[in-house]
Amino acid sequence: MVGYLFAAVVLLAAGTMGWYYIYDRWIQRDHAIRRNFPIYGRFRYIMENLGEYFRQYWFTADWEERPFNRLTRAWVYRSAKGVSNYIAFGSEVDAQQPGHIYFLHSAFPVNDEEAEDYTGKWIGRGIVKHPFKPKSFFNISGMSYGALSSAAVTALSEGAAMAGIWMDTGEGGLSPYHLKGQCDICFQIGTAKYGVRDQDGNLDEAKLRRIADYEQVRMFCIKLSQGAKPGRGGILPATKVTEEIAGIRGIPAGKPSNSPSRHHDITDIPTLVALINRVRRVTEKPVGIKMAVGSYEFIDEFFGYLQQRPDEAPDFIQIDGAEGGTGAAPAPLADYVGQSIVQSLPYVAQRLRDYNLRNRIRLVASGKLLTPDKVAWAICMGADFVVSARGFMFSLGCIQAMKCNTGHCPTGVTSNDPRFMRGLDPARKSVRVANYARAVQHDVEAIAHACGCKSVRDLKGQHVRVNGGDLMM
Ligand SMILES: Cc1cc2nc3c(=O)[nH]c(=O)nc-3n(C[C@H](O)[C@H](O)[C@H](O)COP(=O)(O)O)c2cc1C
Repeated sequence: MVGYLFAAVVLLAAGTMGWYYIYDRWIQRDHAIRRNFPIYGRFRYIMENLGEYFRQYWFTADWEERPFNRLTRAWVYRSAKGVSNYIAFGSEVDAQQPGHIYFLHSAFPVNDEEAEDYTGKWIGRGIVKHPFKPKSFFNISGMSYGALSSAAVTALSEGAAMAGIWMDTGEGGLSPYHLKGQCDICFQIGTAKYGVRDQDGNLDEAKLRRIADYEQVRMFCIKLSQGAKPGRGGILPATKVTEEIAGIRGIPAGKPSNSPSRHHDITDIPTLVALINRVRRVTEKPVGIKMAVGSYEFIDEFFGYLQQRPDEAPDFIQIDGAEGGTGAAPAPLADYVGQSIVQSLPYVAQRLRDYNLRNRIRLVASGKLLTPDKVAWAICMGADFVVSARGFMFSLGCIQAMKCNTGHCPTGVTSNDPRFMRGLDPARKSVRVANYARAVQHDVEAIAHACGCKSVRDLKGQHVRVNGGDLMM
């Protein structure tokens, strides 16, 4: 009798586990971790929930993890899921801490019915045949197909289209996945000129023109450097260079895809400006540059040069902070080279004004600017647009496993391995991408309204303060 009872219990347990396995792996599509790691992937969610009660005894504090603390990630996850981001009991942010950011609300905040919609800002108007007016001040920063999986790029593209935001291709060329959602696209030209290069790695104008022929491709960005690895080109390990990725980039498969540290045809300011204008002539669309700031002397020389010939200036400049992310980078460059967005953005914005270029060149900012407070801070500092890479990775379900360069990303965001990628359902995740973008827009607007501004466009430096000097990132 006891034997039968025992067998029944074992059978029931096995059946239940079997059902959970089938449900996690094949039926539910919301959780990549559970699709890829059925049953035991659930422990992550159990721990997350229990953490609320036991964190104070066992776990690290909510604001301690790096690069992104739990508070920041939770904000993105909740926004992406469309769950309320209201907090109860009180803020966990230490308002006394040096570097704490706060906005100066008005005695007469703006009521909902008085608020004005964001109307966009033109890029390249009066300069190119096809100027671009983005509908959103918050958009997706460059991440290549290769660094990201095809499922992730598809979800970003479809989510971007839903939210009306632009998506940057990153330096790895234009893939069919970027085009799936019909979103606005910024095509990035990295130092290896992937996707628009000839056999010797030089710019191929015919290929460039073909990219520009896509109506969705609204603008071009020449990448000089990125904050996570200034002075070093893109790095894609051999394991991630599949036949398809190699074909899109115009390189051999199965070999590491390392781009040079500098564009071969850019050696100084005149050659930089010449390439900007060559790309603009061929594409007839706005052309900008992306860079992390090193010495301020370069900024002054560059802007001094452009002041004499404003029509030849880039239509936008993306300033990427040293705190920016990457698919793969040498640690010393990521940790110790380049200026933080905290220093570089206010400086560049001021110098654009000093050289009368403020109305000519749009300013785009990136570098851990993925929650409404940081986005609003950047706009107050002079950014016309803010872009994020890792914020959108979190919206796709990234758990900060820090395995982007291995091909073993457990959520399938940065792995093209079908075992991991199957967990990421583009149809579901695209909705989260759009939800996240809208939540940032909504809450930046809420900050603006609290400051007495009817529109985000009216946010200025006078609306923000930082405890004891610099903002902490
Ligand atoms: C996985 C990954 C891939 C990236 N690929 C590129 C790239 O191809 N080109 C580029 O200019 N920046 C690339 N970046 C940098 C981002 O575009 C962005 O500038 C930086 O991460 C700062 O934004 P964030 O702090 O919101 O992530 C990449 C970042 C990540 C995380």
